[in-house]
Amino acid sequence: MIELLRKRRSIRKYTGEAVSRQAQELLVEALLRSPSSRNINPWEFVVVDDRELLAKLSMAKEHGSAFLKQAALGIVVCADSTKSDVWIEDCSIASILVQTVALSLGLGSCWIQIRNRRHDARTTAETYIRGLLGLPEQITVESIISIGHPDETRQPLAAGKLQYGKVRRNHYSVTVE
Ligand SMILES: Cc1cc2nc3c(=O)[nH]c(=O)nc-3n(C[C@H](O)[C@H](O)[C@H](O)COP(=O)(O)O)c2cc1C
Repeated sequence: MIELLRKRRSIRKYTGEAVSRQAQELLVEALLRSPSSRNINPWEFVVVDDRELLAKLSMAKEHGSAFLKQAALGIVVCADSTKSDVWIEDCSIASILVQTVALSLGLGSCWIQIRNRRHDARTTAETYIRGLLGLPEQITVESIISIGHPDETRQPLAAGKLQYGKVRRNHYSVTVE
């Protein structure tokens, strides 16, 4: 796992090759094995491979989503927010786990933030997606994970660049109440 994480980078360029059915099944398994608070599993996922739909979803935001058009898959990570007060955490865990399993399968991926993001001045990114996917009212969207065969090589973060200063032991500062 640490070897995988040492290689992990967001990948936004894809070859256009399809993701095999077997790989898709493993990705879905990763989503469904994600831990959730109180085991409520408030998440719901929409796996999109329809090219026309991917092109429309790639326009969910003005910035930071256009590359979805070239991806083989977009996994729309949603939740029934009425089921859990920590659905954001639950969705985030599923999002990062599916990205990690994608990496283990030689696939590239990138998180596209949807919650709290706008499509344009009048419409939220979520409302735009709701119309495209037919999401029921109680279903809210955290992210879309774009996945495909990588068409770019990104250098891993060098060990020397890790921000060890952000990690403290026992206390944050010497002044303790
Ligand atoms: C919560 C979250 C939201 C993100 N949203 C976007 C996004 O909307 N569009 C995008 O291109 N990248 C997005 N990213 C990817 C980050 O930009 C990327 O992880 C960061 O720049 C570090 O680069 P790396 O993943 O290659 O190490 C997001 C990542 C996270 C964790």
